[in-house]
Amino acid sequence: MSQEKNQNGARAPGRSYQDLLDEETNPVPDCLRENTNPYLGSDNLSVDRYLSREFHELEVEHVWQRTWQAVCRETEVSAPGDTFVYDIVRFSILVARTEAGTLKAYRNACLHRGRQLVDKSGNYQQLRCPYHAFTWSLEGDFKGAPCKWDFPHVNASEFNLPEVKVDTWGGWVFINMDPNAVSLQEYLGVLPAHFERWKPENAYKMVHVEKVIPCNWKVGWEAFIESYHAVATHPQILRYTDDADSQYDVWGDHISRFITALGVPSPHLQDISEQTVADTMFGVSAMVARPDDAVVPEGMTARQFIGQKNAEAFNKNHDRDLASFATNSERMDSILYSIFPNFAPWAGFHPNITYRFRPNGDDHKTAIMEVMVLCQLASGAERPKDAAARRMGENELFSEAPELGVALGSIFDQDLFNMPMIQKGMHNLQSREMVLGNYQEVRIRHYHQTLDKYISGEL
Ligand SMILES: [Fe+2]
Repeated sequence: MSQEKNQNGARAPGRSYQDLLDEETNPVPDCLRENTNPYLGSDNLSVDRYLSREFHELEVEHVWQRTWQAVCRETEVSAPGDTFVYDIVRFSILVARTEAGTLKAYRNACLHRGRQLVDKSGNYQQLRCPYHAFTWSLEGDFKGAPCKWDFPHVNASEFNLPEVKVDTWGGWVFINMDPNAVSLQEYLGVLPAHFERWKPENAYKMVHVEKVIPCNWKVGWEAFIESYHAVATHPQILRYTDDADSQYDVWGDHISRFITALGVPSPHLQDISEQTVADTMFGVSAMVARPDDAVVPEGMTARQFIGQKNAEAFNKNHDRDLASFATNSERMDSILYSIFPNFAPWAGFHPNITYRFRPNGDDHKTAIMEVMVLCQLASGAERPKDAAARRMGENELFSEAPELGVALGSIFDQDLFNMPMIQKGMHNLQSREMVLGNYQEVRIRHYHQTLDKYISGEL
């Protein structure tokens, strides 16, 4: 996909993220120096894309059955027989680790009368339908059923479970229901090369919560791919968040990114001291534990100081000295990538938040929002078990989720409070169209342009 450069200067006039990289003392990786600066037009977006059942049906047909989707961590299906059930709209896919150690994915339906073959994730020696006991091996081979005499017309060798494409990247298992889909490698474009340095495959999933949210899944998703809303929605983070100076990038059809520098104040604020930046970030951001000595030394910026303290905290559990090779950006910034259609992993050496948004079953008016946190394994430590998803209560706030803590959870609560009001307000737009910023909301535009390509058959 050729992309026009952003010629109209639509970027905050002050210091850029690239300017901050100039101040790094360690070498800056090429992927952070990339600055695609796209202009993807200024068209408005119809609210019918969020509100109409017809558009949901188009997504079911052209997006959910045709795109690569992250299912679980490889380590969640590591032992023979480990089986993970992934539900997306009205479909259910099984991912199973076979006796031979390979991963297979199947449509989760008994070939007899269609009952869902496996109800929930677990470890199974074989895949046996609870209804009439039609049974398949983990390799998908048909093993038989009671009263074989009644099925002379079923040829066992042709009654194997149809396979769904499955592949892995970064320790994540992905599936794609489209037998003609491009490879995951091709689909991910620049992403694997960018993450080569951060090795997400070595991380473990420390946190995983999910919550039903009262809006179309894209309403939730789009609140997490731009930093523009921080000034109004998250005012408490502005003292350490360079929100309006964020960099936005898109690559090809499936990958985009924003980088929001932390440890520097927002350009919306004036006269914030370095000590205030540090105090607020240590106090509010759950990514940064408050050190015993939190006084920013004379001649040092808050960003340098926080970077130093983050490296000291990291080094306590790791053989590698983070200060010797990692940029400050990789020690603290929000470096958030997204993989079309619904998966958004942070990058860097700090704990990496990862988001996933899906329709809530086949309902286009509610969604499932997931927040995960991946942490680099401590040197020499045994790999901890990945946290399984915990479904939060209907009225449970993110700030009440012990997994997230009050500071980080409160930020998600602020996003959460917007969501039903966005869904409701869209119905009241007389034009039935929303307006997008040229730069800060370019990832939303990019995302919808890709959505249109899938729906039109161009992709
Ligand atoms: Fe937010």
